[in-house]
Amino acid sequence: MKKLEAEIKEIKKSCAEALKKSSTLNALEAVRVTFLGRKGKIAQLMPHLKKLSVEQKRVFGPLLNKLKEETESLYLQKKELLFDVSLDKQEEQFKNFDVTAYQPDEPVGTLHPYTQATQLVQDIFIAMGYSVVDTPEAETEFYNFESLNIPENHPARDLQDTFFLNVPDMVMRTHTTPVQVRAMKKKKPPFAVVNIGRTYRHEATDASHDFMFQQIDGLLIGKDISLSNLIATMKTFLQKFFEKKDLKVRARPGYFPFVEPAVEIDMSCPFCTKGCSTCSHSTWVEVVGSGLVHPQVLKYGGIDSKKYSGFAFGFGLTRLVMIKYGISDIRLLHNAHVEFLNQF
Ligand code: DAH
Repeated sequence: MKKLEAEIKEIKKSCAEALKKSSTLNALEAVRVTFLGRKGKIAQLMPHLKKLSVEQKRVFGPLLNKLKEETESLYLQKKELLFDVSLDKQEEQFKNFDVTAYQPDEPVGTLHPYTQATQLVQDIFIAMGYSVVDTPEAETEFYNFESLNIPENHPARDLQDTFFLNVPDMVMRTHTTPVQVRAMKKKKPPFAVVNIGRTYRHEATDASHDFMFQQIDGLLIGKDISLSNLIATMKTFLQKFFEKKDLKVRARPGYFPFVEPAVEIDMSCPFCTKGCSTCSHSTWVEVVGSGLVHPQVLKYGGIDSKKYSGFAFGFGLTRLVMIKYGISDIRLLHNAHVEFLNQF
């Protein structure tokens, strides 16, 4: 009896001391386990109670309960106190934390060179009164070939290695030129449009070829449209795109079934006057296929070729991007290499 009483007192004292000493929530938890846990010191007293007589139980039962309650309440008080302290500490830590501080190692995103070039091309043509339109990448053979005066069995179809789809009469567009008849059918002359996007050709991949690349096609329909309108437009565009006011252009005869006459346009090298690797040491760079819209194409588009005429042009956007940014391998543009992209 005396022993049990002494033990209760001892537990009460040592627990109070241990609680006082604990200065962290972890230390406090250890104290709780030691005294109040399921196998803790107080729980270990319970079996003794069973051995006592009824009278003794009447004395010790309430004593033990009181011990448990008091210890628990001391524990809770201390827990609250330590919790407040730890919150204060956290607050102190975060008080001087500047969320706007510059972090030099933080990676910063940039726009892909294609996106930058596309936006620039759009801005230049929009400023000249063009609207930007979009045509499907999976195209019908009609719009990709027939409507452009490239009938079946025409040798021009061999010029382009086509991805044919498992759907009758459908191909991945081999150029952005299908915009011509598509736009003619939708719009009333006079109008001017540009179409920019991915094109696909069944080609072996190397530093200058890929099975996917990007093109820009433009079309202007109006009255009395001439080659000089076309050449002036190309010159303005190229001067703005390469930010070079004295950039010159020259026209050579070409062949494309959908324009007559067809004109190849070269620009003076944007980087040199004497010859460099960009211009293959010739000071001229071949960039545009163009011409006056063929009467047959106007007919497919439902436009009266006696009343209206127009010019059309096509660039490789991929090629322009590679020239402008000095990219030597087309595959770099089509892979998500962060070191490459970070340069833009
Ligand atoms: N579609 C031609 C190609 O992929 C480029 C082209 C040439 C587009 C002449 C035109 C054009 O609009 O008039 O090579």
